[in-house]
Amino acid sequence: MRKRSKQILILLGSPREDGNSTRLAFAFADAASRNGHAVRSIRLPALDVAPCDGCRQCWAKASQPCVIRDDMDSVYPLLRAADVLVFATPLHFYTWSAPIKTLTDRLVCLTPQFKRNLKGKTSVLLATAADERPAAFAGLTATYRLVADYMGWKRLGEVRIGGLAAEDDVSRAGRALARADALGSRL
Ligand SMILES: Cc1cc2nc3c(=O)[nH]c(=O)nc-3n(C[C@H](O)[C@H](O)[C@H](O)COP(=O)(O)O)c2cc1C
Repeated sequence: MRKRSKQILILLGSPREDGNSTRLAFAFADAASRNGHAVRSIRLPALDVAPCDGCRQCWAKASQPCVIRDDMDSVYPLLRAADVLVFATPLHFYTWSAPIKTLTDRLVCLTPQFKRNLKGKTSVLLATAADERPAAFAGLTATYRLVADYMGWKRLGEVRIGGLAAEDDVSRAGRALARADALGSRL
């Protein structure tokens, strides 16, 4: 039986426009598109997204997602409409990049205790680093899994590729792009 077409939202966290994590994301996207899914990607560093200021008004009045007016106004509907959220990030100081951290903090208004939440989505982690040691990804992996589990997201899979310093190192890194493609093909 043919699978239902899914909405896939790729959150690109790299400051590089055509860097390693973005190339991994596009390999994932190509595979998902081949399977008939609708893919949209957002370059988070290009957006104007303020950090959560901890005002907690979203906790007081759950009808108001967030009182900060910035580019999250257009990202929230995309997040809510998506079936699959893909976090594509370079490792920055052993965790995901600042734009992804800023975005995830702004999800505090959509956590499972609220009627309006992001429960039931599928999530994916695609990450690249300069460090070749698998242990370099430990903090990022733990963060992603804790966030996904807390938010009520299924975890489809993770691709972590180390040893990538220059912008297009991923293209020469053995089966890196094939692994992202294989994960995208599972949708
Ligand atoms: C601000 C900054 C912090 C970084 N921190 C780390 C790190 O903690 N560990 C590591 O292995 N690589 C680190 N890197 C290197 C990148 O993770 C690596 O080159 C990655 O492949 C870049 O992906 P991109 O091309 O998608 O930006 C850092 C790079 C930058 C610019």
